[in-house]
Amino acid sequence: MKILGIETSCDETAAAVVENGTRTLSDVVASQIEIHARYGGIVPEVASRQHVLSIVPVIEKAITEAKTSWQDLDGMAVTFGPGLAGSLLVGVNVAKAIALSKNLPFTGVNHLEAHIYANWLNKEKTPSFPFLCLIISGGHSELVLMKGHGQFEKLGRTRDDAAGEAFDKAARILGLGYPGGPIIEKEAAWGKPCLHFPRAWLKGSHDFSFSGLKTALWHFVQKNQVLGNSSFVANVAASFQEAVIDVLVTKTINAAEELQVKQILLSGGVASNKSLTQRFLDSSPIAVSVPPPHLCTDNAAMVAACGYYHFQNRNFSSYDLDVVPSLSLG
Ligand code: KG4
Ligand code: ZN
Repeated sequence: MKILGIETSCDETAAAVVENGTRTLSDVVASQIEIHARYGGIVPEVASRQHVLSIVPVIEKAITEAKTSWQDLDGMAVTFGPGLAGSLLVGVNVAKAIALSKNLPFTGVNHLEAHIYANWLNKEKTPSFPFLCLIISGGHSELVLMKGHGQFEKLGRTRDDAAGEAFDKAARILGLGYPGGPIIEKEAAWGKPCLHFPRAWLKGSHDFSFSGLKTALWHFVQKNQVLGNSSFVANVAASFQEAVIDVLVTKTINAAEELQVKQILLSGGVASNKSLTQRFLDSSPIAVSVPPPHLCTDNAAMVAACGYYHFQNRNFSSYDLDVVPSLSLG
């Protein structure tokens, strides 16, 4: 079964064709990072206009690169939330238009659910239930227990800043630009984590909190001559990254052991951080699944993979599918 995935929830216009929920035939992503970087963050109105310009060529490229045709497709999956309303609208309306003109069934997919399904793509072994998912992106840090397809039990979430948001804000405080995650990772690679920043353990809860860490970083930078001193900036970036990794890895592994799950699944843009994934792989007694970096950040292959399981469960959408910017999981 071949499914066309469409993803426009934030600042990537993406389309992909995936076979049987696991085999990526094409995976096209048009990033808007350069456009938004000059504003220091995503400008929603600019994002939606850019999606309008990119979506048709991106879809056509995905079909061509998959060496397939419209007649060969069995259906479509499109992200309908959470995300930016104007951005989501572009993907959902394009999917509806194609569904009508090509007579194809389609299903609306939750972007967070899609991130999890990146773990099904191009792997020798697909994940085995029950598992614990850590979704760490620009807007979310969630711990979710899954006992079967479509069964989500939300155990923890961020109480303030999401993990990716913390990286983005830290990079801004350090004058490093946008998006913060990859830049902090690059700086941290040659810095030393020699400074201690606070960790919010929130004992007794699976929730996360990163705003205290962000504030501590801000005060540290105000009090010390950090900016302009490149090795000091690198040490601060490494110490900040260490604090985020420490909390994410420790809390997730503790929860996985408590719940006796078979696996831990990582997903979302922050999961493309190599120090983070290495720490998980080195310290977890439970098997850890991590998608390759390009499938951790926003893409449409994960949307198509997730859509495949919707189709298996006969979970189709109708033309009244609307965007839900604040959609949650479970
Ligand atoms: O999943 P994603 O691509 O989009 C959302 O759904 O939000 O995640 C984007 C987030 C951004 O906050 C970005 O700074 C962060 O993921 N990110 C990283 C890395 N690459 C992207 N954070 C830490 N290390 C990275 N290498
Ligand atoms: Zn995402």
